[in-house]
Formats: sequence, structure tokens, C-alpha cells
Amino acid sequence: MKITVFNGSPRSGGNIELLLNEAIKVIDTKIHDVEIFNLNNMHIKPCQDCGGCNITGICVIEDEMVAIYNSIRRADRIIIATPVFFSGVSAQTKIMIDRCQAFWCEKYILKRDIRNLYGRKGLFITVGGRKNDTGIKCSEETIKAFFRSISVPYHETLGFVSIEKKGDILEHPTAIKDTINAVERLLQ
Ligand SMILES: Cc1cc2nc3c(=O)[nH]c(=O)nc-3n(C[C@H](O)[C@H](O)[C@H](O)COP(=O)(O)O)c2cc1C
Repeated sequence: MKITVFNGSPRSGGNIELLLNEAIKVIDTKIHDVEIFNLNNMHIKPCQDCGGCNITGICVIEDEMVAIYNSIRRADRIIIATPVFFSGVSAQTKIMIDRCQAFWCEKYILKRDIRNLYGRKGLFITVGGRKNDTGIKCSEETIKAFFRSISVPYHETLGFVSIEKKGDILEHPTAIKDTINAVERLLQ
């Protein structure tokens, strides 16, 4: 299977990176083709709402998003991970998602579903420093819209609260095991 992974955290060695490292260990790279995008290191311009993709389904901006479009188009499984920032996904994650308006247009205006493969699945991983899950719920709405637009019908959310400092996730009683189990389900 082709598995596309997005890391939307800017913090090197942070909680999201730690969880993604555990997630990737579960995937046998001799069998599966894994492509990881560290969004913080990429040059991706925000959507300009120019309307270009309304007509063609293709974004007019030629930047590093082109590699992501190709990867999403071919992916059988997608993992997207971001910390909660101001009750939503990180800016790095949101810029990438907004550029997927091109897929939205392809699907809903041009009526060409980007992939008709049943069984395309997704996993959303998030962490937030606050005790309540407001940020996780808000972020999940954005991710649901993302998965809908790129035609990923089956997806799961793994969200962890009270994860603030670097490494806090390692103290969580179940996070690592939950992540491993979720990736095993994703690969089924
Ligand atoms: C700019 C910024 C905004 C944040 N906003 C929230 C928030 O609204 N809710 C929350 O639960 N945590 C918030 N946090 C805390 C982070 O989600 C938390 O520290 C997380 O563990 C960071 O993940 P990372 O180590 O992968 O970067 C915020 C952190 C930053 C830097």
C-alpha cells in the first residue's frame, strides 16, 4: 500500500513527532511505500481563492504542494498529525489542507471523484496542552472536511489532552499503545 504521512508540528522532537515515530515503526517498509511530509519544512503558499481550480481541478500555484497532490492522489492510507494550536490545527497543516480545495473542486464541481477505490482509510493524530478536548473536537471538524474532499471515507481520530511540554506524550498511560493499535487497524 502507499501510505502518505503528514507531520504538521513545527516542534522538532515534540509530541507529534514522537507519536509519528511510533506509528511509522508499525509499518513494514519492505511491503508498504511510506512518504512523509514535514509540513514545517516545506514552501507551500496559502490558497489565494483565485478560482483557477474551479475550472480545471488543478491548482495554478506551482510550489512544493505539487508533490503532496501527487502523493494524496496515489495514497491508499493517509496519516495526518498536528498539535492543537488556538483550538485548531497548526498553520502548517491548515495551509496544506486549504490547498486541497483543488481536490474539492475536482470532486464536487467537476464531479470527478479523485479515487473510487473503496477502503481508502485515514488516521488523524492530535495532542493539546489543555485539559479539555475542545481543540481536538474543533480540529477534527477540519480534518473531516479534508478527508471528505480527498475521498477518504473511513477514518479515525486519536486525540490526547494535557500534553503540553516536549515528551509529555511519553508519560501518557496509553498513547503509544493506542497509536500502535490505530495504525494496525489502518493497515487492515
Ligand atoms: C501557538 C500555540 C497555540 C496553542 N494552542 C493550544 C490550544 O488552543 N489548545 C491546547 O490544548 N493546546 C494548545 N497549545 C499547546 C500544544 O498543543 C502542545 O504544547 C502540544 O503538545 C504541542 O505538540 P508538539 O510537541 O508536537 O509541537 C498551543 C501551543 C502553541 C505553541
